[in-house]
Amino acid sequence: MEVVAEIRALRERREAMRGSVGLVPTMGNLHEGHLALVHEARQECANVVATIFVNPTQFAPNEDFASYPRTLAEDLERLEKAGVDVVFAPDTAEMYPRGRERLTTVSVPALADTLCGAARPGHFDGVATVVAKLLHLAAPHRAFFGEKDWQQLAIIQAMVRDLDMATQIVGVPTVRAGDGLALSSRNQYLTPDERELAPLIFRKLCDVRDAVHRGERNFARLAADASQDLATAGFHVDYVAVRDAERLVTPDSRTPSLRILAAARLGRARLIDNIGADVAVPS
Ligand code: PAF
Repeated sequence: MEVVAEIRALRERREAMRGSVGLVPTMGNLHEGHLALVHEARQECANVVATIFVNPTQFAPNEDFASYPRTLAEDLERLEKAGVDVVFAPDTAEMYPRGRERLTTVSVPALADTLCGAARPGHFDGVATVVAKLLHLAAPHRAFFGEKDWQQLAIIQAMVRDLDMATQIVGVPTVRAGDGLALSSRNQYLTPDERELAPLIFRKLCDVRDAVHRGERNFARLAADASQDLATAGFHVDYVAVRDAERLVTPDSRTPSLRILAAARLGRARLIDNIGADVAVPS
């Protein structure tokens, strides 16, 4: 496995690759969820490029950019074991040599201003911009993203479609701990008591999905009940919502594929999760 920190070196490695290329963008501090992306890329592509970059433009000034866990040596060991060919691990000056002021920015406003975007203004512009740069640099045939960040995945899919980028975006199912908690680097911010409580988010999403599958169609009521239960248990809830899975708008009776999404803060951690629900649409 080769590790490169410069754009020029990444481009050289990329040009030498023969056959399909899969890209796995990460911010490091890798867990089994990231490794599932690498395994999928390894199965589908002849070459696998992973990136490790804690992207400052997707953090607001009050967020955890400075304290975000950075574990490069362990990450590289795990990527090598998982069969990655090239790791691109640039520093901020390499990615943003002219700083952040007046930076050309990619926005997907139809999808980025709602849900997590409402609580984190500008976050998805930072994500879309850095992912656009990484897609240009690595020119992959496929790029792999976790379904845990469902809104991020929808935004990247829309960006690639709208800008006619040649990469196919592949969503990989969320990896969960045995008690249902979606794996996330931010889970390590939880105290032992908070960690015990945290899987309630997933259980509440499952309750909403089960009610939808039983035929309940008052989505707003279902979401409000789940939100209330989380608040009563001690979460600071940003949202629980039932949305059209692709467009992220409020669903109507003709929406076939729903996504139930939640974001809530528990102590220092902001936890997000989502699951799907399919409904039979009258023809
Ligand atoms: O999901 C993440 O880890 C990040 O948002 C990403 C896609 C690597 C962009 O910085």
